[in-house]
Amino acid sequence: MTSEDTTALGLIPAPRKVSRVPPGPGPHPLDEETVLSAGPGAEGVARWLRATVGAATGLPLREGTGDNGIALSLDEALAPEAYRVVVDGRAIRVEGGGAAGLFWGAQTFRQLLGPDAFRRAPIAQGRTWEVPMVVIEDEPRFPWRGLMLDVARHFMPKDDVLRYLDLLAAHKLNVFHFHLTDDQGWRIEIKRYPRLTETGAWRSRTKYGHRASELWDETPHGGYYTQDDIREIVAYAAERHIRVVPEIDVPGHSQAAISAYPELGNTDVIDTTTLSVWDTWGINPNVLAPTDNTLRFFEGVLEEVLELFPAETSPFVHIGGDECPKDQWQQSLTAKNQIVDLGLKDEDELQSWFIRHFDTWLTERGRRLIGWDEILEGGLPPNAAVSSWRGYGGGIAAAEAGHDVVMCPEQQVYLDHRQDGGPDEPMPIGFIRTLEDVYRFEPVPPGLSEEATRHILGTQANVWTEVMQTRARVDYQVFPRLAAFSEVAWSALPAPDERDFAAFDARMAAHYARLDALGVDYRPPAGPLPWQRRPGVLGRPLEGPPPVV
Ligand code: ACM
Repeated sequence: MTSEDTTALGLIPAPRKVSRVPPGPGPHPLDEETVLSAGPGAEGVARWLRATVGAATGLPLREGTGDNGIALSLDEALAPEAYRVVVDGRAIRVEGGGAAGLFWGAQTFRQLLGPDAFRRAPIAQGRTWEVPMVVIEDEPRFPWRGLMLDVARHFMPKDDVLRYLDLLAAHKLNVFHFHLTDDQGWRIEIKRYPRLTETGAWRSRTKYGHRASELWDETPHGGYYTQDDIREIVAYAAERHIRVVPEIDVPGHSQAAISAYPELGNTDVIDTTTLSVWDTWGINPNVLAPTDNTLRFFEGVLEEVLELFPAETSPFVHIGGDECPKDQWQQSLTAKNQIVDLGLKDEDELQSWFIRHFDTWLTERGRRLIGWDEILEGGLPPNAAVSSWRGYGGGIAAAEAGHDVVMCPEQQVYLDHRQDGGPDEPMPIGFIRTLEDVYRFEPVPPGLSEEATRHILGTQANVWTEVMQTRARVDYQVFPRLAAFSEVAWSALPAPDERDFAAFDARMAAHYARLDALGVDYRPPAGPLPWQRRPGVLGRPLEGPPPVV
């Protein structure tokens, strides 16, 4: 197809191959008579299509076959996530290698219908709907295309999480990394430890802006997901072919848990009964005590987590492992004795012991541990995977050592970082990472050996919510950059310098219209709207280009 044709279709992420059907018959109409058929294995996608495109168009999409129809089927010759959309004057065919591929094909089909197909109800009676005559053949670059949402710093209500799953699916992203616990809040109900949510799920006030800000929001803040909420989220994700990676962050980032169960902290160093859920930001010294009791407690937590997040859709469980200051362990006689008893060298090996314990524990239960790249320090069992966040370095070392890696370097794809250098960015944090910067992010660093490259499972964008109090603030940070990210994760893009950002940006015109229809509060290209600004609230902008590490 010509580049004008692909710009007009505005497909994001860009598919591998789009061809026009010769000799170019007119578009395929969709109307009251259009029928829908689902072959074996395609029933779930048919359900999704009726619920979304059916609602947006107001068309009944009755069950049936015929030239005025949409036929969904599986084609085992295709890879599980690959799909084909054929619009050639006969029935529209959407075929996937597996149900996941078919679902991504259905997402492309919805994009072909135009932005109003992203609404929840028709905006006009009797309008005609048309699908252009095209054949699209497509498959993803990476099997792990993720978004991490931090629902601990600011709680995201369940409905908003479900909406984010829809937004992931609309961008063909298939991993939702659910950061459920941190110093500032514990967000998942654990039946055997009710105080985790009774005490740990709320705080009486919150720092407003960066930690150096003088401002406080004195409104109590909190919330958590009941076990049934979690089951609903997991099922909703599964229907959209999204895997959920639950994160229980240990042994650092644990003040909320310690405030609920003070015995989890280093009681011989500080009076942990005085701790409450943290109300400000930064790296917290109050970490878990490295004891057998702590291990038993978190085994209890993880037993419930494994029951809620089944192995089929949550093969990986994230145990954090990041930013655990060792100061309290250095002062703790209990920690010192544990080092001696276990025959370890120092506190770093103690952390390694802690992580290895859960690696063994999860492996015995048919799961795989994933953690932030600090877990590499002190050695790691081969089955464990690494989220490379402090740069590429951890990921390179891990992949060369044979570990699977998810590339999510903070210098590139932390969407809490500001997206423009202008004075109007709300609570600006970190380096400037524009839409174009994200578009030019490359998950596989140059020079990586072929063997190590096979260990790069994919990539994810991470969203830490210290300065995102509302869903609208999250939307602002995430969009439009998640659209560029989705193309990095899905499409077969050339090397960063050779990427045609202008062509992507031209396709974004169609995509902004889709985001408008979906009700996404993205950052407009011309800058924040007045109500998206936060004048006077301190951020922490970092100057210069981000270091490459
Ligand atoms: C992290 O950003 N602390 C993983």
